[in-house]
Amino acid sequence: MSEWTLMKKTHLVYRNAASVLSCLVQEGLTALHLAAEGGHSHCVKLLVQVGADVNAQTQKKMNCLHYAALHGYEEIARILMDAGIHTDALNHQNASAMHIAVLQNFPAMVKLFISAECDLDIPDNRQQTSLHIAAEHGRQDIAELILIAGVNLKLTDKQGKTSLDVAARGNHTILVDMIIKADRFYKWEKDNLNSGSWVAKHLTFKQDHRLETQHIRSVMWRLATKYLKPGEWKKLAHYWKFTDDHIRAIEQQWTGTKSYREHGHRMLLIWLHGVITAGENPIKGLYEGLVGIGRRDLAESIRKKANADSTSPRKCTAM
Ligand SMILES: *[C@@H]1O[C@H](CO)[C@@H](O)[C@H](O)[C@H]1NC(C)=O
Ligand SMILES: *[C@@H]1O[C@H](CO)[C@@H](O)[C@H](O)[C@H]1NC(C)=O
Repeated sequence: MSEWTLMKKTHLVYRNAASVLSCLVQEGLTALHLAAEGGHSHCVKLLVQVGADVNAQTQKKMNCLHYAALHGYEEIARILMDAGIHTDALNHQNASAMHIAVLQNFPAMVKLFISAECDLDIPDNRQQTSLHIAAEHGRQDIAELILIAGVNLKLTDKQGKTSLDVAARGNHTILVDMIIKADRFYKWEKDNLNSGSWVAKHLTFKQDHRLETQHIRSVMWRLATKYLKPGEWKKLAHYWKFTDDHIRAIEQQWTGTKSYREHGHRMLLIWLHGVITAGENPIKGLYEGLVGIGRRDLAESIRKKANADSTSPRKCTAM
């Protein structure tokens, strides 16, 4: 290669590097941002050790944790949090690293942020909390983590919607049910402060597929699909103190004129979740509920069905 060509090439390389650099500087990216964005955890560690400012922000107010969340780099997030980064810092769209991890669907990252006690109730520029975002995108695993950690379910977004409304609007019925279970659980927990460690250890809001509840669940399926008249599930729901918002969210799913059967079935399973969590007897509760809405006839026959060939009800309450 002639000296001239070499010079031209070198010049080109420098010019490109310079324009990249000036671009980075304009955006306000620091070396730590670049290391975090690139997933170079050893660089991040090194930079932190030599005293790089962990809380440096770009023009768009992105800190390094935002970048780690954007790509799901847990190791880097851990290093940054150990170095004392502000975990709840907001970027120019008022999004926290948690918001970003939920949107990008990184459950492990969300778990990490929850264990670092990040604020789950922060609203972004659409006034959406992390749960709103999980609800909007139907992210069950992430919603489970957030609901177990505990959040304020009354918070509304810019359109005045709670996360329950958002889940219902998106037809995410499993999420709707999870949020109602959590809402009822939070209330129960408040009323029963000494609920013990069993609940904390085994708490879940997901669908129940366990063998020990199979029999009572099949009784509920028959009750909802064969025996309850249209509208009766709502009476039962009111009797069991479901709120109007809960009922409306369940009803939003529409599959035709027989939808009431599915609505009733879902309501019964949500109720069962609370009864089992509280360590109460579901057969007794079901009997009382049916008597409470004036269906003593049905109460008797359901009790017989529930007790028949049942290996489960006792296990159900004694688990
Ligand atoms: C961000 O949140 C602050 C309050 O914390 C608010 O005053 C501001 O308007 C919000 N910005 C956006 C873009 O939503
Ligand atoms: C939800 O389902 C209803 C029908 O039950 C449908 O009309 C509506 O478009 C769906 N919405 C979304 C967001 O998928």
